[in-house]
Amino acid sequence: MADKEVIIIGAGPSGICAGIQLQRLLGHKNVHFYERSKDMGGVWFNNTYPGCAVDIPAHFYSYSFALKPDWPKLFPVQTDLRDYFHNLAEEYDLLRRMTFNTECYGMSWDQARSLWTVKFRNTHDHSKTFEREAPIVICAIGKLDLPNIPDIKGRDTFGGAQWHSARWNHDVPLKGKNVVVLGNGASGTQFVPKISEYAGKVTQIVRSAHYIQERLNPHYSPSWQWCMKYIPGACRAYRWSWYIRMEKQFGAFWLTPNGERRRVDVAQETWDYIEKAAPEKYKEILRPDYLVGCRRRVHSNKYLECLHRENVELINDNVIEITNDTVITKSGRRIPADVIIYATGFRTQDWLWPMEIRGIDGVEMHELWEKRGNVQAYYGTAHDQFPNWFTLYGPNTGSGHNSVIYQTECQVNFLCRMLKPVLNGNAKSVVPKKEAQIALNERIQARLPKLTFSAGCTSWFIDKFGRNTYVWPNYTFMFWYETVRVKWNEVKVDYPKKTGYLGKHTTVLPNPTVIFGALLAGLYASGNLNSDAVSRAGEVLSKQLSQLSIAR
Ligand SMILES: Cc1cc2nc3c(=O)[nH]c(=O)nc-3n(C[C@H](O)[C@H](O)[C@H](O)COP(=O)(O)OP(=O)(O)OC[C@H]3O[C@@H](n4cnc5c(N)ncnc54)[C@H](O)[C@@H]3O)c2cc1C
Ligand SMILES: NC(=O)c1ccc[n+]([C@@H]2O[C@H](COP(=O)([O-])OP(=O)(O)OC[C@H]3O[C@@H](n4cnc5c(N)ncnc54)[C@H](OP(=O)(O)O)[C@@H]3O)[C@@H](O)[C@H]2O)c1
Repeated sequence: MADKEVIIIGAGPSGICAGIQLQRLLGHKNVHFYERSKDMGGVWFNNTYPGCAVDIPAHFYSYSFALKPDWPKLFPVQTDLRDYFHNLAEEYDLLRRMTFNTECYGMSWDQARSLWTVKFRNTHDHSKTFEREAPIVICAIGKLDLPNIPDIKGRDTFGGAQWHSARWNHDVPLKGKNVVVLGNGASGTQFVPKISEYAGKVTQIVRSAHYIQERLNPHYSPSWQWCMKYIPGACRAYRWSWYIRMEKQFGAFWLTPNGERRRVDVAQETWDYIEKAAPEKYKEILRPDYLVGCRRRVHSNKYLECLHRENVELINDNVIEITNDTVITKSGRRIPADVIIYATGFRTQDWLWPMEIRGIDGVEMHELWEKRGNVQAYYGTAHDQFPNWFTLYGPNTGSGHNSVIYQTECQVNFLCRMLKPVLNGNAKSVVPKKEAQIALNERIQARLPKLTFSAGCTSWFIDKFGRNTYVWPNYTFMFWYETVRVKWNEVKVDYPKKTGYLGKHTTVLPNPTVIFGALLAGLYASGNLNSDAVSRAGEVLSKQLSQLSIAR
């Protein structure tokens, strides 16, 4: 059934992975991508701020089926990542299957036709809309995609330039300018050391601290790259050595005495780094007061070191107002500004924005979540009441210590397994059972309080109900383990209705022995079992068998 179209919304790393694995695992090429941006690559296309780089060794922040022996360094920069994903899309002939500048804003399921009707609009002109129908939809719209810009009084009156870290304005040179930066998460920590090399003054306003880890970033020599390429198994072994090193960090997240001992070591690393590298006057501001793991750790590439520069000032305060040329803080500071840069994170709890998604009987996804009291999915991937509909990087699939790519690759492989009866068989749809999804989510939510992910800090992991919607509360190999096969008893596969006894649409072919036995039993029960009856039953059986071979 290669003609069943798969619509993939979002052409970032997860969407690309789905497009490739559908080909590799199921031989299915009929996919089409609809992407809001003007090009593919997701986060690695949209985030072009100076210093943007990956914080997981690229040998593991890459697909297991597309190893790259010649990564230039341990943590390559944004353009290297962007090119990696782009080259793969080209290799698998996905680029011509992409429509850009197109935002999905809703969809609905037609149970009778087993079809999704998906609504799109042009990103430049929302009045230009169109619809597409497809039996399968994969929603790969990411999680760190919608910039969060705080609603600060007077923000619109600012006379200078202002932008979010994920939508960098390269048209405005920062040389000699007064730049005010809000936020000190992974993004702010990466670009402040870069822009402070040429900006006139950089004032960074922060509200809380992060566990900062010193990041050494060795280059790989040509001989190392040669070994990775030509020594059989070397690249894969190196990749897995990183996986094991990172996976071990999960031990520090348990709220147990052993976890506590591990956390002390991690915290000490941060204290030592602050002690060694930060200016004395900022040490208090930089020390986090919550448990390790509550937020994802931040890697520093000379961030603490750059705070020594005379043109850099770190302020622990809150912005309460912006005027034409000044940023005003709660403590009364008035900071002159030519440019304001918001490194204030993403709208991570606006799940599936701006889509309205209607499944079986018109049930809407957000309303269902509201009713159930939390955002949830079946292994973050499938959704009860939403047949043939999948999310990647979905609820509770993330980790605080490992690669998102690993998790989404597990999800993609899982959805391919689920889709096999639909794409390689003649099933109409597949959907997880409600009881299975609810039980899984209860298990996830019951486990989270035993870990540090919700332990007393603000974090983009937490939703308005106070629940952690982001983290998979276990080692990531356990996510692989639980998704490496489909528990078919937890999933409903909808096959076409039989059109008649052994009709040509029959999907479950009856066993001939059973037919023969049933006929004999019927005859015996009716008292007509004799040699004539047996030979008549044989005739019926051979007729049915000939029909059966046609049906096959
Ligand atoms: C700066 C930055 C650095 C990061 N570094 C790391 C790292 O080092 N390690 C790590 O594990 N993770 C990292 N992450 C997390 C990162 O989000 C994931 O690793 C990865 O990008 C997830 O890929 P994705 O395809 O699911 O989402 P994305 O990369 O966000 O791609 C989603 C795509 O969907 C499109 N889209 C969104 N909504 C719609 C819509 N309605 N209609 C059509 N298209 C839509 C977007 O334009 C985007 O192209 C980083 C995130 C950021 C922001
Ligand atoms: N490869 C990488 O190294 C890399 C780079 C960038 C991003 N990422 C990923 O993307 C995620 C998001 O990173 P991010 O840095 O973009 O966002 P983030 O981690 O959510 O950090 C945003 C920061 O902005 C602060 N903030 C929010 N509103 C503010 C305001 N009004 N005034 C001052 N500060 C304000 C927050 O402070 P409070 O905490 O006090 O709210 C927080 O410290 C990361 O966790 C990581 O997973 C990775």
